[in-house]
Amino acid sequence: MTDTTPADRDIHSYARPWEARVTHVALDLVADFTGRTLGGSATLDVERAPGAREIVLDTKGLVIERVTGKDGAPLKFALGATDAILGQPLIVELPASGPITVVYRTSPGAAALQWLAPSQTAGKAQPYLYSQGQAILTRTWIPTQDSPGIRQTYAASVTVPRELRAVMSAEQLTPGGDDSPRGRTFRFRMTHAIPPYLIAIAVGDLAFRSLGPRTGVYAEPAVVGTAATEFADLESMVTAAEALLGPYLWGRYDVLVLPPSFPFGGMENPMVTFATPTVLAGDKSLVSLLAHELAHSWSGNLVTNATWSDFWLNEGFTTYVENRIMEVVYGRPRADVFRVLGWRDLATEIERVGGMQSKDTVLHVDLKGRDPDDGATLIPYEKGASLVTLIEQTVGREKFDAYLKGYFQRHAFKPITTAQFLADVRAHLLTDKAVEAKIRLEDWIYQPAIPDNAIQPRAAQLTAAGEQAAAFARGAGAASLRTKDWSTQEWQYFLQELPRTLADERLASLDQAFGFSERRNAEVLYEWLRIAIRHHYQPAMPALERFLTSQGRRKFVRPLFQDLMDSSWGKADAKRIYAAARPGYHAVTVQTLDAIVK
Ligand code: BES
Ligand code: ZN
Repeated sequence: MTDTTPADRDIHSYARPWEARVTHVALDLVADFTGRTLGGSATLDVERAPGAREIVLDTKGLVIERVTGKDGAPLKFALGATDAILGQPLIVELPASGPITVVYRTSPGAAALQWLAPSQTAGKAQPYLYSQGQAILTRTWIPTQDSPGIRQTYAASVTVPRELRAVMSAEQLTPGGDDSPRGRTFRFRMTHAIPPYLIAIAVGDLAFRSLGPRTGVYAEPAVVGTAATEFADLESMVTAAEALLGPYLWGRYDVLVLPPSFPFGGMENPMVTFATPTVLAGDKSLVSLLAHELAHSWSGNLVTNATWSDFWLNEGFTTYVENRIMEVVYGRPRADVFRVLGWRDLATEIERVGGMQSKDTVLHVDLKGRDPDDGATLIPYEKGASLVTLIEQTVGREKFDAYLKGYFQRHAFKPITTAQFLADVRAHLLTDKAVEAKIRLEDWIYQPAIPDNAIQPRAAQLTAAGEQAAAFARGAGAASLRTKDWSTQEWQYFLQELPRTLADERLASLDQAFGFSERRNAEVLYEWLRIAIRHHYQPAMPALERFLTSQGRRKFVRPLFQDLMDSSWGKADAKRIYAAARPGYHAVTVQTLDAIVK
């Protein structure tokens, strides 16, 4: 047994997997919507190094009742000191052989879980529960080794109120559930080893619509029809992804549309992506989000960042692949539009984190003493994708695509560090030193800023929107602008291209001509509301308040609250609106906003 700590260990986990490592988790849980707890047991299979006498698990806020061995005999255990970010280590004395069972329950404040009252759902009749594990929240509902480098298969038996249905990121063994004395029991099985941040659950009044042979959508009955229409292209996205990346190895690919408090656009839980309802624009214009989450079935779920400092390998590759999928399904001109918008997001984000020299612009980010959530900026997404694009363009698509397939094959079902990626790309793609030198990998990965060899994307489809914004800036009337048949992305671009300052009557004329304050499309409304706040444009304030209190997607609510707090006039408004919105938000959004709206 080695007692040395590996240099690349995950600093966000207490686990010492080189001594004893969890390989399988079997959950037996009851969902108590009154007490807002999940309670029951987690039985863990453990792989032991010779001489290992204890195992260290991650927990946060869990109430541990007892720990037993396979014969039910109690095992000694201790909870260590609490760290505000990491939680508490659970140290268990290991029996000579066999699994260990932790009998426990979650606390009502478990950060991974959101317990929704019926009023927070579309149907208004039933409560709802869902989890969000990434980055280090799984430990708030499952006592296991919560590190992306420690892959585990899992099984679950979950008992919920009779009217509800449970869905997990796994194969469903009992689609309709089985009657049991305490309600309805659903059983699941995930036979591929996955990082624990991908163990996920949702419980609610859920309906299902099939979209294709291996795709479908879950949502509340009032939403599922709309969702099925919006996601009609899902099956062809999977087919496109396979042609690019190799076989889809997870069986089914379903999407679950969550209630509006879901803090992310999407979460790539295996077999069932969780998605925000703000993606339901009515015209399929925001489905690149599905291409993104689907891409994670390879980059992220198959080949997984070993630590949260390697997060850019998950998101950078995924953002690149997302665009490639969009290109196959919707064509190059449309994919280029998304590339341009992503590139602009990168510039905006670099400003937000403090400019080009900010440490937060480094891809391999130093997270010592920090919550991995702090590293979840757009930099790993867009700077990461820009690097992948540069590699592709330098070697040519044909060579790059072959490399990409090989990369996923070589590292399938394994974690990968940034150093391992570098070794892999040098061994299998950039074998010619002169070619590698053109890219400057180390600068891109370990230094701040965007190196000057970055390839700036262009999109002909955005030219008109740019011209119309310029015409408006020169004084053209809003009603005279040519905006016929514009897509969501053209509207976004138009709004971004408007001058920084506009007189109130110019804003009013835009709103009157284009109905921005009444837009249903969340991305367009968001761009408009940022402009409105910048100008303290009063007529849009009711729309702002409605938007902030009717959904909790962090990408939208964080900048809007930040803008209000940064303004000279909006602090009291921010506090008032936040007080009303906060009870409806997920803990992830609350944690971010508590720090902004003090
Ligand atoms: N895996 C992420 C979401 C995430 C990142 C959760 C870090 C927790 C910590 C997911 O794939 C994602 O990137 N979602 C984006 C949407 C995407 C289209 C860029 C989001 O939520 O906005
Ligand atoms: Zn992602």
